[in-house]
Amino acid sequence: MEVLHQETIKHIAIQIKTAIDTITSSNSADVSEIYHQLTTPPHLEMGHLAFPAFPLSKLLKKSPVQIAQTLASTITKSQFIEEIRPVGPYVNFFLNLKNVSPELILQINQGDFFKKTLIQNTEKIMIEYSQPNTHKILHVGHMRNLCLGNSLVRLNRYLGHQVIASTYPGDVGTHVAKCLWYLKYINKEALPTQNHGDWLGKIYVLASQAVEDQKDTEEESSTKQKLTEILRQLEEKKGEFYELWITTRQWSLDLFNRTYAWADVTFDRWYFESEVDSDSLKRVNQLKEGGLFIESQGAIGMDLSADNLGFCIVIKSDGTGMYSTKDIELAYRKFLEFGIDKSIYVVDNRQEFHFKQVFKVLEKIGFEHAKDCHHLQYDFVELPTGAMSSRSGNIIPLTDLTNQMEETIKSNFLNKYIGNWSDQEIQLTAHIIADGAIKYGMLKMDPNRKIVFIMDEWLKLDGDTGPYLQYVCARIHSMLEKYHFNANAPGDFALLNEPSEQALILKLMQFNTIIVQAAALNKPSLLCTFLYELAKIFNNFYAECPIGKADNPKMQLMRLHLSQATAKAIKTGLELLGIKTPVRM
Ligand code: ARG
Repeated sequence: MEVLHQETIKHIAIQIKTAIDTITSSNSADVSEIYHQLTTPPHLEMGHLAFPAFPLSKLLKKSPVQIAQTLASTITKSQFIEEIRPVGPYVNFFLNLKNVSPELILQINQGDFFKKTLIQNTEKIMIEYSQPNTHKILHVGHMRNLCLGNSLVRLNRYLGHQVIASTYPGDVGTHVAKCLWYLKYINKEALPTQNHGDWLGKIYVLASQAVEDQKDTEEESSTKQKLTEILRQLEEKKGEFYELWITTRQWSLDLFNRTYAWADVTFDRWYFESEVDSDSLKRVNQLKEGGLFIESQGAIGMDLSADNLGFCIVIKSDGTGMYSTKDIELAYRKFLEFGIDKSIYVVDNRQEFHFKQVFKVLEKIGFEHAKDCHHLQYDFVELPTGAMSSRSGNIIPLTDLTNQMEETIKSNFLNKYIGNWSDQEIQLTAHIIADGAIKYGMLKMDPNRKIVFIMDEWLKLDGDTGPYLQYVCARIHSMLEKYHFNANAPGDFALLNEPSEQALILKLMQFNTIIVQAAALNKPSLLCTFLYELAKIFNNFYAECPIGKADNPKMQLMRLHLSQATAKAIKTGLELLGIKTPVRM
């Protein structure tokens, strides 16, 4: 539950409560409810905050318009409330910003604002995300999951939850067997000197193509036998294919680690499919003894047809397990190992049915935490040329992409600083911008909507992009430096009187409320929208309120305070999206 963390809004909510209680001669109005009902009017000329009267209509047996009028005349002005105005079915409030802003801006600039208690009950949550398969290509599509999971970890930690970030790479299965088979029997290509993981991904494409091509040919059955043999060796953990698996798996893991380092993502716990594989079979075999599963056409599983979830196989007729079998084991481990309250799986929407089945099986076998498992879905990433497919070559491997982005950024904006900035700074800045462009582009879209990745659009310095927000921050920093801003110099907040200054203060006030919403709804997109709006409001202020040519030094000082607060809010907001801000760009 959200705490009433915004002092000014809480103050107004209390005034409204008192007024309602006076009108009803009772003590029944709920401050928290009122706090959450307060909204922003469409234009600042109409008011700074609005309270809708229609929910009271039933209780008071009057029209919302009448209620708004009565409330407006009952509520008294205060240190924070300058004017109260009924507007149709709303009561609109004009804040006394000269009394609101000192506390707000100083709290932001000193950092306390970002350390407030925002919710009542914190939990221990595991967020599992970025679970690519080893031996396959890591491509731009994988970044959506990575960015989403990473931001959710950060948002939840900001709220005070204890978050365990975990990953679960798919390092066993037929895809691995195909790849090893190809390497041993078909491949003629020499091993590259570096980036083995990327190379392996390309080999996998060739491998699955080769297996496909053998369909209905003489070789088909012998290849099948070989694949079975490979899988057997992997299960027994010995033999030449097991050795080859160890080596090649590490190539993929090196690639994952390189990507995670690039994106500044870390995991507290790595689970592997190979790690839960045999235990998962043991567990379902035990459950089978207990009579919890039934046999169907040689396979063992659970009939979920009453829940419209078909038959969930957990042991195949050859005695091996399934993807779902491993997920049953994994769910237990997560709760047992960490004593978590909630387990979130960030996985694309193609696996909706799979998770419904797994969670249902968990429920039926009496796993008490089945209800605490949540599949957080998201939709796909496409290229302008259509859906990504490794077979048709319509795919961008991640390493190629990050290299290409960094190069583009250098040639578009940073190469002009060669000689002036160190090469190291240029490279680091290009990296931060590329990372920001990808993360922002992946996060600004609602998780339920498709994304089309267009590199040049995402890199634009003007518009709704990561680099734009980074640029606004960098520009503010250089301005603070240029005017030798002294954060400790005493100032008069009453000077911040222009509409665009007020608009900025009011927007900053909403920061924490947006974070609470974005985390509660698992939608970092709400934060993206907020930061973009904040940056636009800042730009308005910057255009309308001179800083270098301010009327007097006091005015300049206050505008610099406000600018710094904006930069801090954008920087903190971006951090919650996993995005860094370069000092200059
Ligand atoms: N490795 C799987 C894939 O690439 C995703 C794993 C999702 N997590 C899970 N617990 N099943 O499709």
